[in-house]
Amino acid sequence: MGFSERQTMMLEEMGIRVWMRPEPAPAPAVAPPPVARVAPAPAPPVSSPAPSPAPAPMVARVAPAPAPVQAPPRREVVLGTRPAGIESMDWPALRDAVSGCTACGLCEGRTQTVFGVGHEHAHWMIVGEAPGEQEDRQGEPFVGKSGQLLDNMLRAVGLTRQAESPERQVYIANTVKCRPPSNRNPEPQELAQCEPFLVRQIALVKPRVILAMGRFAVQSLLRSTEPIGRLRGRVHTYEGVPLVVTYHPAYLLRNPEDKGRAWDDLCLAREILDAAG
Ligand code: URA
Ligand code: SF4
Repeated sequence: MGFSERQTMMLEEMGIRVWMRPEPAPAPAVAPPPVARVAPAPAPPVSSPAPSPAPAPMVARVAPAPAPVQAPPRREVVLGTRPAGIESMDWPALRDAVSGCTACGLCEGRTQTVFGVGHEHAHWMIVGEAPGEQEDRQGEPFVGKSGQLLDNMLRAVGLTRQAESPERQVYIANTVKCRPPSNRNPEPQELAQCEPFLVRQIALVKPRVILAMGRFAVQSLLRSTEPIGRLRGRVHTYEGVPLVVTYHPAYLLRNPEDKGRAWDDLCLAREILDAAG
């Protein structure tokens, strides 16, 4: 095994068993235990709501919370337009523009918008997908189950979302700022409507590396519909900024066998920064 004690600790932060990335070392005598799966959320009580309005989402991003007894009342929202001049807004103006935005139908179901979090001049920028239930409730990206994994992954390479220097404190944003109903995938016109906000966030942060997590981040930033597995492992660029594609943490929760590849992607991003000095 070529892992130092420190690397082993990092891998453990990410929930990676060191035996997952074996070198030609002799195989352990005993078969490794099966990969611990994330405990499935407890089934909702039998008396859970009768007519479920929406089909179960294809991609459960966060463990489904017990469904509300009643669907939230539908507000009649007249879809507006985005304010002009996003491309020259400063942080406070951009934040206000997002919080009042009604440019796509996702505004109807949100509790609040989820703008972004972290250092305004972070060296690392993380781009995810869309707020889930917890994020919608708390107004911060990646605070649910996926967020816990993301935080562990970041910690494994010495990064955090908490107050720190711009080398160590990341900036985290999503491709859409409002929660899609039932955590469904964002639709193309929703992604398109929301994109200028992300574009401006990136322009303000001026990151040295972007980590694009999952297919929607990739669609927005690279205009590519290729699978993540084909895009990861090499360096792309977005507006001159090196961009590394990796799996979305929600995917990794369902496919822990790919955590090792996500680790490689983090190391690649780290190498880019180290090489840039
Ligand atoms: N998944 C995302 O992509 N973003 C979040 O904020 C939470 C879960
Ligand atoms: Fe506006 Fe984006 Fe929310 Fe749609 S998802 S309403 S474009 S902030």
